[in-house]
Amino acid sequence: MSSPPLAPPAQPAQPDGPGRAAAQVSPPGSPTVIRASGVGKKFVAYHKRATSLKERFVRREAANGDDFWALRDIDVQIGRGQTVGLAGANGSGKSTLLKVLAGILRPTHGEVAVNGRIASLLELGAGFNGELSGRDNVYLNASLLGLSKREIDRLFDSIVDFSELRHKIDDEVKHYSSGQYVRLGFAVAVHVDPDILLVDEVLAVGDEAFQRKCLDKIAQFRSEGRTILFVTHSLDLIESMCDRILVLESGNMIFDGQPAVGTKLLRQRLGSLPVEGVAVPYDLAPVKPTAVTFSHSPGSPAQVQYDPGEQLTVSVELDLTDHAPPHVYLHVEIMGQGEIPIWMMETPAGGISPGPGLSVVDFVVPRLPELLGAFAVNVRVSDASTGQPVTARRFEDLFGVSGLQGAGLLRVDYEARLRR
Ligand SMILES: Nc1ncnc2c1ncn2[C@@H]1O[C@H](COP(=O)(O)OP(=O)(O)O)[C@@H](O)[C@H]1O
Ligand SMILES: [Mg+2]
Repeated sequence: MSSPPLAPPAQPAQPDGPGRAAAQVSPPGSPTVIRASGVGKKFVAYHKRATSLKERFVRREAANGDDFWALRDIDVQIGRGQTVGLAGANGSGKSTLLKVLAGILRPTHGEVAVNGRIASLLELGAGFNGELSGRDNVYLNASLLGLSKREIDRLFDSIVDFSELRHKIDDEVKHYSSGQYVRLGFAVAVHVDPDILLVDEVLAVGDEAFQRKCLDKIAQFRSEGRTILFVTHSLDLIESMCDRILVLESGNMIFDGQPAVGTKLLRQRLGSLPVEGVAVPYDLAPVKPTAVTFSHSPGSPAQVQYDPGEQLTVSVELDLTDHAPPHVYLHVEIMGQGEIPIWMMETPAGGISPGPGLSVVDFVVPRLPELLGAFAVNVRVSDASTGQPVTARRFEDLFGVSGLQGAGLLRVDYEARLRR
């Protein structure tokens, strides 16, 4: 843990008033206490720890040799008193962002300004010296956070009580369990009277009773108007405790806003929810799938009813602004009832290059499979050059194969026989 230099408020308090911009990043009248501008963080490849096969694979594609960007072009301002949840898949950059905001990692690009005392509970072990006792680590950490010895003396018992580690406080912390590490770290972080509390997902390490205690403490901090940024995989927790959610994906901030909207997006991204109407800030997307139509051949009259074996063309209309990526990748899922994907279709790997304005992409299926049912369509758009998602939309327009009833059933030949 460290105490980054105090910087002047990046965005000083402004009088409330109509037309005040950026109300979301900072409630009216509340000054910005953390501001990150254009923050990028690059790691050098030989330091990389690939934690999953997928990560290794994705990185090899993206890293292009030696460098790996764990964060790209992050702009965020957090207003005093906000409780912000930071979410995203493993490896998306959450811990790196917290460390950069805490001043423990220096960003490769961009700037971070902090106004107030930050206390942070970062990844396991960060900030602790294993050779020292719990007691010495309390003194070391609290002094790094700016407390004098006398202040720490005064708080020491309360810290140890909170951690429930009195029996081990004179043992070297290298003999602590991961849960015990976290308990001590959290106890110190919440006792130093921080203006800003950063908490990584380490809380999940402790037992349930301790987690409850930590959450109560976070709720108390929230009611005291302190600023909290915490990482969690619990989207329910974000919905119940946070004013705002930040969602990271592959080092990019893909969402910043209302918890209810962000958690929905994330559930979709993590595959636990189907894509729906306006999943991503659709209105702002530089490439919008505006319509889906069904017909026999590209350009022929619309048709919603088909027989197995017939040809089907699914046409996706796209509207691109001037800011659209030059190469666009489309992923189309044909969905049965009960949100079961039946099949999917994609543009070639390099994407397509429609250019600004309206265009149509036709997916021609020469022979419909032996399927029965009614189908809806999900369309996802990404930037073919970077792989970054642009937007997603669900179309309720249905087409049917041999009737509009059913749930995407496969038609097979069979006989029913009685045997006794
Ligand atoms: N010190 C480091 N050196 C090299 N790569 C790192 C380092 N720290 C993190 N990374 C990589 O950066 C990416 C983001 O990591 P991290 O911020 O820990 O993600 P998260 O906390 O969201 O799981 C991961 O791919 C991780 O392997
Ligand atoms: Mg992490």
